[in-house]
Amino acid sequence: MRHIVVVGILVILVSFLTYFGLTALGLMPVQGSVQAGYVDQLWNWDLIPLCFLFSIIMVPLVYSLIVFRRRPGETGDGKYDEGNHTLEVTWTIVPLLLVTIYAYLGAYTLGKTRYADPNALVINVTAHQWDWSFQYPEGFSSNELHLPVGRQVLLEMTSLDVIHDFWVPQFRIKQDILPGRTTELRITPDRLGNYTVACSELCGLRHAYMTRPVMVTSLQDFSAWSAQQSKAYAALLAKGGPDAGKAIVAQEGCGGCHSIDGARMTGPTWLHLFMSQVPLSDGRTVIADKAYIIESIKDPNAKIVATFPANVMPHFDLTDQQIADIESYIETLK
Ligand code: CUA
Repeated sequence: MRHIVVVGILVILVSFLTYFGLTALGLMPVQGSVQAGYVDQLWNWDLIPLCFLFSIIMVPLVYSLIVFRRRPGETGDGKYDEGNHTLEVTWTIVPLLLVTIYAYLGAYTLGKTRYADPNALVINVTAHQWDWSFQYPEGFSSNELHLPVGRQVLLEMTSLDVIHDFWVPQFRIKQDILPGRTTELRITPDRLGNYTVACSELCGLRHAYMTRPVMVTSLQDFSAWSAQQSKAYAALLAKGGPDAGKAIVAQEGCGGCHSIDGARMTGPTWLHLFMSQVPLSDGRTVIADKAYIIESIKDPNAKIVATFPANVMPHFDLTDQQIADIESYIETLK
């Protein structure tokens, strides 16, 4: 009985010390979003039974090693008890209750972090090896993620190649990004600051360097930045040419099917396309001149490239000027 009382007191003491010790270490980055508050709260709730479990295993173990160690001259087996119904029922019921409670707490937190604000600012995120692109409702794209403080953003994310993962540690939540699919993440930044978005899914050689700045600014600063970007984007489109074409291509998401590095995707690559010999599925060969490229954008089924299926490319609502800009961009990829 004396041993049980001593171990009991030690277990409680070590539980508290472990919990407060870990909490005092301050291992967490600052909370940068509303969602971070819920995640940290759940983490805190998880930590309490974890510290207790740690100590209820370690304290009796160490205590037994010291107090019940084999002394010189002892050769027999130690005393042991066989079967204890009270104990067995207890260690079945208590964990069952705990797991049920924590399942509820987990679901509750998931619901809170997924709360959808109908006024959320929608930003399209494109991930590829090994960089990020963020496209704003006004049409312009940026390699920096600028967010206004206090407003929920809905990130609509897709990948051009392999699986990536959007992760800003200060926002706590993260989400995989898959090719050919759109995944969502909702974040409500509630603290001004400069953070970094990192990729959290091993995606190749430069995975570790797939980072970009994230700036949470006041609404005024965000509006000013956004207006300036919009103006520059409008000027770029008005000027026309390859740069405008590149911007339109980014906006329309052409890169989801056409690579610019020679890789085979859903559609033919654009690398070295201009003025090249293109074998068609009907056995003919054509030269990929201006007229051919423009025709292929306007009417994708007019000429089908050999080994590629027909009826895959959707119709894009583009003006003749926009199509000419895209064509001039493709010319630069020869
Ligand atoms: Cu992208 Cu790792």
